[in-house]
Amino acid sequence: MKEIDALIKQYALPHTIYITQPTMPDFERYSSMLKRIWETKWLSNYGEFHRELEQRLLHFLGVQYCSLFCNGTLALLSAMKALNLKGEVITTPFSFPATANVLKWLNLKPVFCDIEEKTFTINPENIKRLINKKTSAILPVHVYGYPCDVNAIQNIADTHGLKIIYDAAHAFGVRLNGTALVQYGDASMLSFHATKLFTTLEGGALIMKDEQLKREIDSLKNFGIVDEETVLRPGINAKMNEFQAAFGILQLEQVEHEIASRRHIHELYMNKLTSVPGIVLPSRNPNVKHNYGYFPILIKEEQYGMSRDALYSVLLRFNIHTRKYFYPLISSYSFFKRLSTTLSAHLPVAEQAAEQVLCLPIYGTLAHDTAKRIAEVIAILSEKYVL
Ligand SMILES: Cc1ncc(COP(=O)(O)O)c(C=O)c1O
Repeated sequence: MKEIDALIKQYALPHTIYITQPTMPDFERYSSMLKRIWETKWLSNYGEFHRELEQRLLHFLGVQYCSLFCNGTLALLSAMKALNLKGEVITTPFSFPATANVLKWLNLKPVFCDIEEKTFTINPENIKRLINKKTSAILPVHVYGYPCDVNAIQNIADTHGLKIIYDAAHAFGVRLNGTALVQYGDASMLSFHATKLFTTLEGGALIMKDEQLKREIDSLKNFGIVDEETVLRPGINAKMNEFQAAFGILQLEQVEHEIASRRHIHELYMNKLTSVPGIVLPSRNPNVKHNYGYFPILIKEEQYGMSRDALYSVLLRFNIHTRKYFYPLISSYSFFKRLSTTLSAHLPVAEQAAEQVLCLPIYGTLAHDTAKRIAEVIAILSEKYVL
């Protein structure tokens, strides 16, 4: 038997372990909220659970205004629309498709900017070089919940009169020097998708500081309706419904516990993988209260002994399903390819990250023994794997 088969026999997990799993709220409590929905027969359009979740989120996040959405993508789209952007928007290629796709939907031109090596977030120095008279905004991503260089980005925006819309899909609960990360910029989008730390099944929110913007966004997500007889804007339907909001109210009660449980998994991986050659572990910033939503590592093929892609494939044979977030880069999608800023030469750091990154399973209910096994397998493969 080949050595790898023997290792699989010894170390494979009995069931597939996915990158994430939602921590479900108490079923009885959700049922009693459903019962309330059955009594009121109020299913959508700003019902009591919608109002309650919005209030609770303001308090939990420590922000002034919040608008709930049926998903994060439509929240981002609505923010861009409300801010009336034109021309070009500078963004990162190292993200989920939604980030740049919304620009395409609004006929805005994405301008791809390289990222920082340590945080995978947009590089402010490179932003400066991409600004011209057609630039109207910057769309940075707090990828994996790692804060962008928010002060440098704000300075650039102030100097050039640009708007900033953060894709904060991963940044729920993250604080920078005690301030909610979603407080920065003109608006920040949160995603409450089922794969996220805090979920409403599908769902999302926009956070903003300006009351007028909140009013516009609330009307935009409801067809542009202002009152029974007035439609002011060509809006869309992007409202959160009562089933989602009720789920969110219960999720919010357990989210600090979820973050603490993920932190234990994070520390376990850090300890177990720290001396494995060729693995670069996530960097930590002492000024940040992290949410431990993701555990991205980089695989340096020469030192580790195999490529990221080879490791991804062999881990599947151990029933360990990791993810190559974010490969391929958005800039390589066929419908963006003809843009000049998609050339590899402009994006060396992002290209390298996309080739080497691998996100390991992390979620509150992941058994510690399972996480230990995942780390052990990764360590053993670096020593023993034979093709
Ligand atoms: C960085 C990023 N932006 C946007 C989205 C889209 O959010 P949603 O799925 O809630 O539409 C996601 C993921 O789902 C994401 O990871």
